[in-house]
Amino acid sequence: MKHPEIEKRIKELLSKMTLEEKVGQLHQSGGSLVGAFDLTFEEIMTMVEDGRITEEEGRKMLSNAKHDWHEDDLRAGRIGSYLNVIGAEEMNRLQRIAVEETRLGIPLINGFDVIHGFRTIAPIPLAESCAWEPDLWQRTARMSAEEASAAGVHMTFSPMVDVSKDPRWGRIAESAGEDAMLNGLYGEAKVKGYQTNDLTRHDALAACVKHFAAYGAAEGGRDYNRVDMSPQRFEEEYLPSYERAVKAGARAVMPAFNDLSGVPCSVNKKLLTDILRKRWGFDGMTISDANAIAECINHGIAADRKDAARQALNAGMDVDMTSGCFLDHVKELVEAGEVSMDKLDEAVKNILRLKFELGLFVDPYRSNAEQEKAAILTPAHLALAREAAQKSMVLLKNDGLLPLKAGLRIGLAGKLAFERDEMCGTWAGNYQAGDCKSVQDGLDTEGISYQAVTEDHPLPDCDVFLCAIGERKAESGEAASRASLELTKEDIALLKRLKESGKPVVAVVFAGRPLCLGPAVECADAILMAWHPGAEAGPAILDILFGRVNPSAKLTASFPAATGQCPTLYYDHIHTGRPAGKFKYTSKYLDAPVEPLFPFGFGLSYTSYQYTDISAVQTEKGIHAEITVQNIGERDGNEIVQCFFRDPVAQRVRPVRKLAAFEKVALQPGESKRIAFDIPKAALGYYDQDMNFVIDDGLIEIHIGGNVRDTLQADVHFIQK
Ligand code: NOJ
Repeated sequence: MKHPEIEKRIKELLSKMTLEEKVGQLHQSGGSLVGAFDLTFEEIMTMVEDGRITEEEGRKMLSNAKHDWHEDDLRAGRIGSYLNVIGAEEMNRLQRIAVEETRLGIPLINGFDVIHGFRTIAPIPLAESCAWEPDLWQRTARMSAEEASAAGVHMTFSPMVDVSKDPRWGRIAESAGEDAMLNGLYGEAKVKGYQTNDLTRHDALAACVKHFAAYGAAEGGRDYNRVDMSPQRFEEEYLPSYERAVKAGARAVMPAFNDLSGVPCSVNKKLLTDILRKRWGFDGMTISDANAIAECINHGIAADRKDAARQALNAGMDVDMTSGCFLDHVKELVEAGEVSMDKLDEAVKNILRLKFELGLFVDPYRSNAEQEKAAILTPAHLALAREAAQKSMVLLKNDGLLPLKAGLRIGLAGKLAFERDEMCGTWAGNYQAGDCKSVQDGLDTEGISYQAVTEDHPLPDCDVFLCAIGERKAESGEAASRASLELTKEDIALLKRLKESGKPVVAVVFAGRPLCLGPAVECADAILMAWHPGAEAGPAILDILFGRVNPSAKLTASFPAATGQCPTLYYDHIHTGRPAGKFKYTSKYLDAPVEPLFPFGFGLSYTSYQYTDISAVQTEKGIHAEITVQNIGERDGNEIVQCFFRDPVAQRVRPVRKLAAFEKVALQPGESKRIAFDIPKAALGYYDQDMNFVIDDGLIEIHIGGNVRDTLQADVHFIQK
């Protein structure tokens, strides 16, 4: 929201700026890396690509490198913001140059990927989404903001709200799964948590919603790949999550790497101007993804870097993250009239607005080393990381083995049970080795003895095996797409070996994505999907395994039965004319089931719940539905009640289920509660063939239950009044 006083100051400042100074504001520098070399990250990547150095050498160069922040450029007003400056003192030093040594003293913004924690790492977003708890999402964002802001960060490149229906895509780890509404709610909560309602607070971060738009629909689940879909599907399933996060007040938006129906998002005027600014009224800052403007040449849409700069700026891009195309070419583009001065001014205004809103002109040094030290890894943050991990882990199978009784002799198997640094998952902020606790650490701290299972020794004589399987952190996240989601041969062999012992087995699965867990279902008596759980991994896993915490998380993405199903039969798929059935000529596979192994919304508890008495009626505003849920087990629990609807006869085929609402409800043994949902009329709508938004009269089915497969149904004959 524009503030008149800020707009006045922007105008004054803009009138004093030279063309070069304006262009400087558009440039975000990632610095370059120096060691025995002086290269940018992108140059190292290219050297790995063309074989001049090995990947291992590239990684070593990156980790040994020191940053050169190009201070001469900064002094000359050629840098408007930085990417990845870490540490309050380092940031203050650079900020001092900007404020005291440049002609106009315009402060810098420092952006960093604080995705699920800065030093105190919370579970990866996909895991945290399984808590179905906006308040938790907001609190962990607040925690991240407190730590990162104290370390000199002003803006986080989060939340990512890319609806992700294909688990081959590594970045599903950063999303809230396959549902549009959940991604939107997740994004909204994160924006509120990072920004608070006062960006001038020293512990606030500006949020940058990404990756606009539909990055999660990359063809084949291959990162950076094309996205091509109908405008109807785009509006109904992919756009709403960005809209919700933007309308929650996010002050920055990052366009995606991919092209959308042939136009790369970085130069996509329809997205960056028509939808974002004109339709949604966004007046914050847009910032490209890293090097993405230059990559428009590879896309085959720009002839050269100058052409890429022209297209991006004219489409509505404000900041160029690291490619340098704006810095190198915008001046000549303006002078040649290929970009108007008004267009350039608009971009500069959007950047200055955020700097004013963050209070950086008044107070450019928002932290110091002492505050930084005090903010990180506090007991309160670690307690929150533990709570988030407990609420994110999904119990997928339990043949009565869990919770474990105290005093059992434990055999601890699988490398991941011993590796604390694998627990943080992808994009783990400023993670430092040893910040996370492994399962082994958890057992040690509690003084629970165990025997390690090793390949070359006979199995230890114990009462139960805890077996860690799954993915390492580098196997999910950006540029970590996979063509096979099956468990590794080693994991399967280990599970079989343990099963053959005749002793009960608990499989604890670490991963950044849904995996094909068939062999675990066969071999293990219980399966806990722990994801990459963050700082308090080990303690939180033991809280659940020993029953101190009753698991309550539910999947936000379907788990495939076989990789070839991907994209899985996600819960809001449509019916074909021949829905899967026993008959051969129906929509299915010859060699694998068509249904996912574990459906959306699924997750077990140590108690059980019974659903009865569903009802649904039309109201003035939409549909009112109710159901009774009773805890029929012997433990307190939290049940996530999910309300779906279906429009069975429509002008365009509609999903077989669409999540409309949910509630997490606490129930004591024997207790029952009546849960009510109000579905607004607009939620029932969709786009017809001509892109008119329509709501049909006629039957609407309401389905409510504890996961998408197990629901009760009530029908409403909906008539628009
Ligand atoms: C690339 C990623 O796609 C994006 O999510 C991230 O924010 C930027 N790099 C900056 O690190």
